[in-house]
Amino acid sequence: MHKRLKTKFLGVELESPLVLPAGVMGMSFSGMDIARINGAGIITSKSLTLQPRTGHKGPVIAEFEGGILNCMGLCNPGISNGLLEVNEFKKRSRTPVIVSVFATNTEDFLMLAKEVNNSRGDFLELNLSCPNVFDEFGIPLAASKDEVFKIVKAVKESSRLPVIAKLSPNVYNIVEIALAAQKAGADALCLINTVGPGMAIDAKMVKPVLFNKFGGLSGPCIKPIALKLIYQTHSAVDIPILGMGGVTYGIDAVEMLMAGATTIGVGTAVYYRGIEVFEKINNEIIEFLDENGYETVEDILKLEKLKL
Ligand SMILES: Cc1cc2nc3c(=O)[nH]c(=O)nc-3n(C[C@H](O)[C@H](O)[C@H](O)COP(=O)(O)O)c2cc1C
Repeated sequence: MHKRLKTKFLGVELESPLVLPAGVMGMSFSGMDIARINGAGIITSKSLTLQPRTGHKGPVIAEFEGGILNCMGLCNPGISNGLLEVNEFKKRSRTPVIVSVFATNTEDFLMLAKEVNNSRGDFLELNLSCPNVFDEFGIPLAASKDEVFKIVKAVKESSRLPVIAKLSPNVYNIVEIALAAQKAGADALCLINTVGPGMAIDAKMVKPVLFNKFGGLSGPCIKPIALKLIYQTHSAVDIPILGMGGVTYGIDAVEMLMAGATTIGVGTAVYYRGIEVFEKINNEIIEFLDENGYETVEDILKLEKLKL
């Protein structure tokens, strides 16, 4: 990897600031490895739950101009099987892994954290913000600063790994939620999860496109929301932000760094540009550095944020 892209996240050296986010190819060690080979600097597992889940019935993805809607319904092999994949990946590679976990209460999050403690994962990400399991679990935990505080605090007390709280864009005041996570001891924040949910309609068939009717929005259409929330949050907290939401080209990644992210997730763009998207974006970032008089990505991170 190019040394101009090297950076650090929570003290861990990265070959690239680009991250494979939760839910995109992180279900198996081979999927993780393909993302690594193609230039991702951190790999995130699919969000793992205590028991395996089959997720929602298809269609679970609806494409529209500007992005996609998904209602995967947190299909995953369960924490034990998921960690076998993480461990297998880590046997073959030093690339850091974020283990993403999902639960609906403190007790279950604690059980998940305990399992992750015994894995080769490098970071623990708490998915507090999945919008497409509303029918089953109701409003995401990330909608309440008190819930976020309670869960992050409890997990921090028992996690061996640095804890990342993944927040939702679907709130009125992201800053108060981010501050609650920080106060509870979160080492970093991840934002944003998908927006909405929204709906797509097949007019000819007179029915919703998604079997589950509603799904979380991702891709280019959510980038302005992600930039705004990352910018606002970065101005208020002292912990690093793993930013994501609509990053498709190198210039999007640079904008997100300027908004206040230290690492950048690339999810939906994998559907648009193939898994080579990581290498393509890495190269596009280097082109931006060349064209704008920066030596390294670190130079952008050191900029006084958005004096612009
Ligand atoms: C198909 C799909 C599945 C996803 N699954 C998860 C998941 O399991 N856990 C999670 O925290 N986020 C999940 N996400 C959200 C992404 O990690 C990311 O936060 C969001 O898609 C915004 O980034 P993007 O526009 O680059 O895709 C999923 C997104 C997509 C498109």
